[in-house]
Amino acid sequence: MQTIRVAIDGPSGAGKSTLARAAAADLGFLYVDTGAIYRTVGLFVQENGLDAGDAAAVAAALPGLRPELCYDGEGRQRMLLNGRDVSEEIRLPEISRYASAVSALPPVRAYLLDTQRELARKHSVIMDGRDIGTVVLPDAEVKIFLTASAQVRAERRCRELEERGTPQPFPEVLRDIESRDYRDTHRAAAPLRQAEDAVLLDTSALSFQESRETLLRIIRERTGL
Ligand code: DC
Repeated sequence: MQTIRVAIDGPSGAGKSTLARAAAADLGFLYVDTGAIYRTVGLFVQENGLDAGDAAAVAAALPGLRPELCYDGEGRQRMLLNGRDVSEEIRLPEISRYASAVSALPPVRAYLLDTQRELARKHSVIMDGRDIGTVVLPDAEVKIFLTASAQVRAERRCRELEERGTPQPFPEVLRDIESRDYRDTHRAAAPLRQAEDAVLLDTSALSFQESRETLLRIIRERTGL
């Protein structure tokens, strides 16, 4: 069966995962959140007391790491680390920092490449991350670069934190987003950038519903679905 691959890349906080999950549900595709895989590696490195900046030490430990994706009854992706469900733990702020550090290591990126490609061989997927259209699935049928201004992303993040009961001052959130953007776009290994053949979707001035409809329209136009 011919599978369809939709690659969605963009900076953190642009709403990639929420929009990609919604579009995958609309189309009956598998949604793959590759950030969760990097987060699982981050947790593994933290639990093993490794230095996330030491490429050689992390590379030597990788054979002991078995990250697996599975889906619950509502189609939500869960992450397993050597058989243990770590879906909640990988969202902790400390693990975000570990994930960011390990994702800059070439041996980690190489190790995860096949896992990601294998998923897209077996299923039609919407895969989101930072290098999906440029490195993981360069032949994807649809590539989208999903972004929003740092200001808007920080405003959305502040609202989310407030709703969760863990508010943070706006300037701090904005600074955090800007420094993550810098790290993601300036690292040597697979930096975040828009693929030449990617469609730019800037959601700064769009509501969630408008973004969802625009995303679906782009996918439908490109695939004839
Ligand atoms: O999207 P996220 O915040 O869950 O991603 C966690 C970290 O992994 C983030 O620092 C960026 C990195 N990442 C990456 O380098 N490549 C990907 N394809 C996905 C995520």
